[in-house]
Amino acid sequence: MKEFPPMNRLNNFFGRNAVRLLGVLFFVSLLTPRHFAAGETVRFAGDSDLVGANGPWTRAVAEEWAKKTNNILEYISRPADATATLQLYLQYWGSKSADVDVYMVDVIWQGIAAPHAVDLKKYFKDDQIKEFFPRSIENNTVNGRLVSIPWFVDAGLLYYRTDLLEKYGYKAPPKTWEELAEMAKKIQDGERSAGKPDFQGFVFEGKASESVTCNAVEWIYSYGGGTVVDPDKKVTINNPNAVKALETAKGWVGTISPMNVTTYGEEEARTIWQAGNAAFMRNWPYAYPLGADPKSPISGKFDVAVLPKGGDNGMNAACLGGWQLMVSAYSKVPNASADLVRYLTSPEIQKKHAIDLGLLPALAALYSDPELQGKIAWLKNAPDILSSAVARPSTVTGASYNQLSSGLFENVNKVLSGEESAQDAVLQIERVAKRIVP
Ligand code: GLC
Repeated sequence: MKEFPPMNRLNNFFGRNAVRLLGVLFFVSLLTPRHFAAGETVRFAGDSDLVGANGPWTRAVAEEWAKKTNNILEYISRPADATATLQLYLQYWGSKSADVDVYMVDVIWQGIAAPHAVDLKKYFKDDQIKEFFPRSIENNTVNGRLVSIPWFVDAGLLYYRTDLLEKYGYKAPPKTWEELAEMAKKIQDGERSAGKPDFQGFVFEGKASESVTCNAVEWIYSYGGGTVVDPDKKVTINNPNAVKALETAKGWVGTISPMNVTTYGEEEARTIWQAGNAAFMRNWPYAYPLGADPKSPISGKFDVAVLPKGGDNGMNAACLGGWQLMVSAYSKVPNASADLVRYLTSPEIQKKHAIDLGLLPALAALYSDPELQGKIAWLKNAPDILSSAVARPSTVTGASYNQLSSGLFENVNKVLSGEESAQDAVLQIERVAKRIVP
């Protein structure tokens, strides 16, 4: 098997132990169907029918499990928006509801979900757990309990139109946000005067939800403004670099980005991009295969790169995202539920997930899989991009993460909408953060 050259960088990011995992056999006995009391009904709150092709794919694979194990699967599509998804889950958890057995949970919700989750160490052998990136397992372990099993990893990417860069005389994607703004303006002006009045320079997620939190974390970190709250519980958001980052993003609204970017989530940005109406887009890996599909107007006309630095002295930053699977502590069918989680997170299904939907596996060994490398063109850049991944401050804020994120996304959204200055916003966010981590 050919070695995947930048593997070391990837492993450095996810933890040194991962390097030992390269030799791990892919198709282990995980997939052996276990026939729990046939006819058990497992209700699965899985990926959204409103996000690309994710929902129907997840439903089909979960139904395949039900068929193989003679169980019954009921699928619940989560809302497209991460924050709305959490609100829905909190209702189930608050009422200790047995109506959902398996939840697809965001990487940042481990502290929030922990009291409502079965400890999956009871259902997964140590050998199985060791196949996942150690950093992800660490993230998903709260007070020694394994809240969820990693399913896929996400990282913010810069999508850019290769054909338009060439047309306007650019040889490479922008290295800094300043360069991006300049390029986006030139391309936007050119395309608009060439008869595309709706053409946009740059689309991103500006909506007051977890979507803009991810973008803001990238902007702020890229300008050297830190991670809002650092791992030692120091609240760092009130600093000139963070202010500069938010002022820069505000400057895009109405110049290279549409005014209503302040209402965009991932799918709103992708719709414009995929129709061929934007030069640049910030989004997650799921948008790649959708844009590359032969029926897509931008097929063969784009690529992805690491997001720009904040000025020449800045840093690259890709917000670290991703989704996990957990079994509800209130489930009446925990055995069958854990078996579904085992099935979905197995190497075979994670590989299919990556090939079909372009989602990055949570199993280190899959990154050196030649078939996967052949199928996901940008995987060659993944180690570089992932080595600049920045985590949101969810471990340090634990069960209060959502309060912090709400304070962040509401104030950042106000800055983008022109309702608040960047300086006032960082003061407000600092106030919220200090209430959480005094
Ligand atoms: C993606 C990420 C997730 C993030 C969400 C924000 O789904 O995987 O971690 O919270 O986007 O919209």
